Amino acid sequence: MTKTVYIKTVGCQMNVLDSELVAASLFDAGYEPVESPRKADVILFNTCSVRQHAEDKIYSALGRLKHVKEHRPHAIIGVLGCMAQKDQATIFKRAPHVDLVVGPGQLGQLPALLDAIAAGNGPRIEISLDRKGGSRARVAESFTRYDPLRLVTARPGRHQAMVRIMFGCDKFCTYCIVPSVRGPEQNRPAREIEAEVRQLADQGCLEVTLLGQTVNSYRDNAAGKILRLSDLLDRLDAIEGIRRLKFVTNYPRHMTDDLLEAVRDLGKVSPYLHVPAQSGSSRVLKRMKRGYTAEEYRDMLARIRQTLPGAAVTSDFIVGFPGETEDDYRQTVELVGEARFKNSFIFKYSPRPGTKAVELYGDDVPDEEKRRRNNDLLAVQNAISEEDNRPLVGRTVEILVEGPSKTSRRQRADGATIQLAGRTVHDHIVVFEGPPELTGRLLEVEIVEANAFTLFGRIDSSTEPKQRA
Ligand code: 5AD
Ligand code: SF4
Repeated sequence: MTKTVYIKTVGCQMNVLDSELVAASLFDAGYEPVESPRKADVILFNTCSVRQHAEDKIYSALGRLKHVKEHRPHAIIGVLGCMAQKDQATIFKRAPHVDLVVGPGQLGQLPALLDAIAAGNGPRIEISLDRKGGSRARVAESFTRYDPLRLVTARPGRHQAMVRIMFGCDKFCTYCIVPSVRGPEQNRPAREIEAEVRQLADQGCLEVTLLGQTVNSYRDNAAGKILRLSDLLDRLDAIEGIRRLKFVTNYPRHMTDDLLEAVRDLGKVSPYLHVPAQSGSSRVLKRMKRGYTAEEYRDMLARIRQTLPGAAVTSDFIVGFPGETEDDYRQTVELVGEARFKNSFIFKYSPRPGTKAVELYGDDVPDEEKRRRNNDLLAVQNAISEEDNRPLVGRTVEILVEGPSKTSRRQRADGATIQLAGRTVHDHIVVFEGPPELTGRLLEVEIVEANAFTLFGRIDSSTEPKQRA
């Protein structure tokens, strides 16, 4: 009998990609996807540890599965990803009905582990070494690289795909759990990445987003020659069928001129750069161990604006980092006001056990103050986003249609047109009405309305699709 699997994913794009790869390996082993954990033989949570809130949500979701296990003792419940690596066997203590704990460096073992549990071999745990659990090489080796086959059926759409170019992180920003749970920085060989992108192009993929925790520190030392991200982009730009290339997340200190020039000169690379600043205060940046000052971040931005005048730049910020004063916070507001990011993701500092910030500093900004700064900064950013989006009204932009809009409200009675969503090369979301068959097409739309988050468009039938907006 066919076995069924339900996968719930939280967290970043790296997790979304891991879940896709897990799904592909399980489909290949004969599993079928189901939409509800109640109907699944295997229930998997791919988890995130970056903030406490994400973990709390998973633990309560696991709690709710207790009765599923009581009714169907043969259902297998697994916890995958960053929280599995961080909390390890304590997950079994907090949720005794869990059968399986698998860290992000062990996902390749999943089909075999599920077979072993189904055969009655009891709960299993597979995690990688702690960062201090051996030499760098041994720890790196224990985070087994996991980029197996790409199945179209495991992806939300055939026209877009993420491709990992590096694993792990060596930056150790003091607030961040990622270097512990995803292990040492390891780069994938360029030829392997190229082969994967070719495979995706053959599958009909038009847009590829390259993923890495610090994607612009990518290095491949092939045959004594160092290849950087700019070189890799140059190779991928030549692959027939691929129309758009994006890459996230950039580390400010590695935003080198060769990369900016590659974005400027290569026809398929989107002028969209996610470069988290985290704070506008050099004092806080130092305590975060980010490796740059606010002035250096501003200089980097100026270089981006000079080489890529029309580029969309986005950022992340943490408010309420230990010791952040009102004056520090004002400096962040100032940076946001000056930088004119397309948008910013803003987070309240969440202490992560095992990080330097927890070891060195107390969590001394009260939660209500964090919330005030969060809301206030968001308002500053949203006003800028809206101001910068408004002039787009009346312009025609090229979008890649991703499918039905998530906030789809209107549907014609005959079902012929629905609200669809697409994305521009600047990563703007455009919602418009059209037939669902347009999914996966590159087409031109006229912008008729804009707010801080979304552009609203109308299909422009007078123009043929072009390569770039
Ligand atoms: N608390 C709050 N936000 C965090 N981030 C990473 N660690 C923490 C933490 N401990 C944010 C950073 C990062 C984004 C992915 O998550 O802004 O860029
Ligand atoms: Fe975390 Fe810093 Fe690495 Fe980003 S660069 S994953 S914030 S440690």
